[in-house]
Amino acid sequence: MEDKVQLIYDSKTYEFPLVKGTENEIAIDIKSLRAETGLITLDPGFKNSGSCKSEITFLDGEKGILRYRGYSIEDLANKSSFLEVIYLLIFGELPTPEQLSKIEDEIREESLVDEDLKAILKSFPKGAHPMGILSSLTSALIAFNPSSVDINSEAEFHKAIIMILAKLPVLVSWTQRRVKGLPLIYSDDSLSYTENIAQMMFKKPNKEYSSNPTIVNALNKLLILHADHEQNCSTSTVRIVGSSHAGLFASISAGISALWGPLHGGANQAVIEMLEQIKMDGGDTKKFMAKAKDKNDPFRLMGFGHRVYKNFDPRAKIIKVTADEVLKELGVNDPILDIAKALELEALKDPYFVERKLYPNVDFYSGIIYRALGIPTEMFTVMFAMGRLPGWIAQWKEMRLNKEPIGRPRQVYTGQTSREL
Ligand code: SDX
Repeated sequence: MEDKVQLIYDSKTYEFPLVKGTENEIAIDIKSLRAETGLITLDPGFKNSGSCKSEITFLDGEKGILRYRGYSIEDLANKSSFLEVIYLLIFGELPTPEQLSKIEDEIREESLVDEDLKAILKSFPKGAHPMGILSSLTSALIAFNPSSVDINSEAEFHKAIIMILAKLPVLVSWTQRRVKGLPLIYSDDSLSYTENIAQMMFKKPNKEYSSNPTIVNALNKLLILHADHEQNCSTSTVRIVGSSHAGLFASISAGISALWGPLHGGANQAVIEMLEQIKMDGGDTKKFMAKAKDKNDPFRLMGFGHRVYKNFDPRAKIIKVTADEVLKELGVNDPILDIAKALELEALKDPYFVERKLYPNVDFYSGIIYRALGIPTEMFTVMFAMGRLPGWIAQWKEMRLNKEPIGRPRQVYTGQTSREL
C-alpha cells in the first residue's frame, strides 16, 4: 500500500502521509496542509474528517459491526454487566473479580450527593425537560466537588471518574422522581451497580421494593448498548470541551446538552412521539412513509438513518429482540410496537429508504422498552445519557492522556470584505 498521497495545486506537487488503523481504515494526515500549501479543507458535519486516533470503539457502518475495545457488542450485551463494560471502556480491559469488587466499593463510597443539590433540583419549573435538568445538575456538581476540575495527577483523574460514575445515576434518579412527583431516595450499597440504578428509578415509598430481574436485565442491556459509539456528536462535544482543559464534569454536562437534540439522542423520545402520532392518526403507516419521503414535508422517520451505519445498526437488532422479550415477560401489550415493526417492514422495501441505506438505528426500538418499564417519555434521552457516560469518560480520558491540542477548526470566510464606516 502507498504510504502517501499527492496533491497538485498551482502547478506544484505536495505529498501527505497516509495513516492506517488496526482495522485498515486509511486517512490522509493533513497536519501540515495549510503550512505547506496555504489551503484548508471544508467538510460541513465532518462527514469525511477524522478528529483523532482512538483505541476505544470500532464500528464498521457498511457491515453493521460495533466493538468496544475489540469485543463485539453482541457478546458484551449478552454476557457482561454494565459495570464490567464501564471498566472495559475506561481502563481498556475487562476487570478481574478483584478489580470489579474494588471499583464497586469505590463507587459506593462516592454515591452520596450533596443535599444542597436538591434545592437546585427543586428550583426547576415542573415542566422543565429532564435533559436540561440533568445537564444543569451535572454542571452544578462541580461546585460541590471542586477537585474534579483541575486534573493533574492520575489519582485526581481516577477520583473524578469514580465521582461522576457514582453521582450521575443518583442525579438521573432524582430527575425522574422529580418528574413523577416522587420523594428523592439514595443509593443502596447492598445492590449491584445496575440493580441500584433500578432501585433508585422505580422504588415506591409506599411499597416494599423487590428487584425485578426482567427490568434489571433490560436496563443492563440497554445501558451497555448505549455505552460508547466513537466520535458521535455528543462525544465529539465532550472531547472538544475537554480539549480546552475544562473539567470532566463540565465536559460531560456539555455532552448531555449535545445528546439532547432530536437528530441525536433526543431521537428516542421523538420516535415514541412519532409512533403515538401515527397511532392517533389511525395507524396509516403508508401515509407517514410518504410524508418522510416528501422533501416539502419536514417530517422525518425518527429512529431511521445514521451518519455511519449504512446497514442495520447492530444495537437496533438486539433492542428489537429485547423489546419483544421484555414486553412478554412484563405482560405488556403495546400497539405502537406493532406500528414500529410495520414501518420497519415497509421502509426496508421502499426504494427511497433502500437507495439512501436508511435502517432503524439505536433509537428506533429503545423507547418501547423504556415505556414498558414505566419510564416517562421525556426521560428516555436521560437514560441514553446514563448509558453513554462511560464512553464520554473514556474518550475524554484518551484525549487528555494523548495531550491533544485544543480543538479549533478553521473556516472559509464568505462575508463582507473590508469597507469604510
Ligand atoms: C444517534 O453518530 C452516532 O453514532 C449517533 C448515535 C450514537 O450512538 O451516538 O448512533 C445515536 O444519534 C442515532 C441517530 C438518531 N437520529 C434519528 O433517528 C433522527 C432521524 N435520522 C436523521 O435525521 C438522519 O438520518 C441522521 C441525522 C441520523 C443522519 O443524518 P446525515 O448523515 O446528515 O444524513 P442526511 O440528513 O444528509 O440524509 C441523507 C439523505 C437525505 O435525503 P437526500 O437529500 O439525499 O434526498 O437521507 C434522507 C435525507 O433527507 N434521510 C431521511 C432520514 N434520514 C436521512 N429521510 C427520512 N427520514 C429519515 N430519518
